[in-house]
Amino acid sequence: MKKKLIAGNWKMNGSLVANESLLQSLLAGIGQPACQVAVCVPAVYLAQCQALLKGGVIELGAQDISSHEGGAFTGEISPAMLKEFGLRYAIVGHSERRQYHGETDELVAAKAQSALASGITPIVCVGETLAEREAGKTEEVVKRQLAAVISTNGHCISEVVVAYEPVWAIGTGLSATAEQAQQVHAVLRAQLKAATPNADRIKLLYGGSMNAANAASLLAQPDIDGGLIGGAALKPKDFLAIIAAAA
Ligand code: 13P
Repeated sequence: MKKKLIAGNWKMNGSLVANESLLQSLLAGIGQPACQVAVCVPAVYLAQCQALLKGGVIELGAQDISSHEGGAFTGEISPAMLKEFGLRYAIVGHSERRQYHGETDELVAAKAQSALASGITPIVCVGETLAEREAGKTEEVVKRQLAAVISTNGHCISEVVVAYEPVWAIGTGLSATAEQAQQVHAVLRAQLKAATPNADRIKLLYGGSMNAANAASLLAQPDIDGGLIGGAALKPKDFLAIIAAAA
């Protein structure tokens, strides 16, 4: 059976002291998890987190990755640089980057390609805003966002992780219901099936106010293969409870 993946997205949170305390608590409580676990940390803390995690059960991810290999791109971080820290995952196209940093579907697709070329698994985020949902455009939006990644990455699409994160559910405490999430995941799965015979092995994560209380029902859905967790990933007890719910 496909193992679920629970990934924390720390966003722009943390400090040397706070990270150490959080990771020590997670390592002390995690045991041998039945699912895969990762934390996507701010790039400046990759070295610290790599040293604390020691290549153990919690894997490391970044929150963004450059679409360029190197050179005159001030502020960007290349895939090769990230790889030096033992990175397994890179989030690409998070709605906060689409919204505040002008990332387009094409740029997100290029970032996914850049990650894949370096052996880093991109966690590609898609999701609709509240206005788009209310206008009945949810399917159209997530399909458009995923189509760009499929067309740029060809047969490599079976190596990506996709995260459905409805923008209205992020950081609001208002999670999608398990049924709402499953409905969109089924649409994404069908789109991937049309693109690759390996679509069933692609992990589809749900993100948006997932917490210790709602994780089990979301993760019980047939097309929900894990979670991308924001706020609750900063609280060891909550993150460990979500990991336990993914067993
Ligand atoms: P919250 O879990 O805080 O809603 O954030 C979800 C998210 O954006 C993960 O990438």
